[in-house]
Amino acid sequence: MKFFVDTADTAAIRDLHELGMVDGVTTNPSLIHKSGRDIKEVIKEIAEMVEGPVSAETVATDADGMIAEGLELKKLGENIAIKVPLTWDGLKACKKLSGDGHMVNVTLCFSANQALLAAKAGATFISPFIGRLDDINLDGMDLIADIREIYDNYGFETQILAASIRSANHMTEAAKIGADVATAPPDVIRKMAAHPLTDKGLEGFLKDWAATGQSIL
Ligand code: G3P
Repeated sequence: MKFFVDTADTAAIRDLHELGMVDGVTTNPSLIHKSGRDIKEVIKEIAEMVEGPVSAETVATDADGMIAEGLELKKLGENIAIKVPLTWDGLKACKKLSGDGHMVNVTLCFSANQALLAAKAGATFISPFIGRLDDINLDGMDLIADIREIYDNYGFETQILAASIRSANHMTEAAKIGADVATAPPDVIRKMAAHPLTDKGLEGFLKDWAATGQSIL
């Protein structure tokens, strides 16, 4: 499973990138707002830092507007994936942009039918929002499983990009189901390394080691 980082915080991306944990980056208008930075400046900086796809989201609500904005964002780097919402106009924009050879990430996906339409429209990535489904007492992971089954039934090449990930457990579940990519905030990726038995075990080893009075160096 590829790891994308869901943030526009360049320091956090750099930190994870040095560890080889960043296969790509996803952003959205809320994350740009949170960064406090100019969208073009920050997306360009990220696209230069990371080799993999960097999703930059359009904000127009009509297909022509999305296409124009997408082409403008694409100028920021060859690895830009143009992000459009899963609306009818978003599907039209996806069809045109992907047909012209651009990577397209179709976002705000909340149903298997929406994912099916995005694949038919040639999406490079489909972004089902797990956490937001869980928020309304549905099971976001069921949606990932449904999309996996449907795409595999027909050999669709659209990659399932599990999004709105809120916990390390979401990462495990998405990987078990076979999501192609998971995009998670930096703190969730760091939490994947944590285990209380690791901490406890290390504490015990260090205590016993100190009692030996030895040193390795
Ligand atoms: O990848 C989509 C993500 O940014 C949305 O996450 O936590 O706002 O639902 P969240």
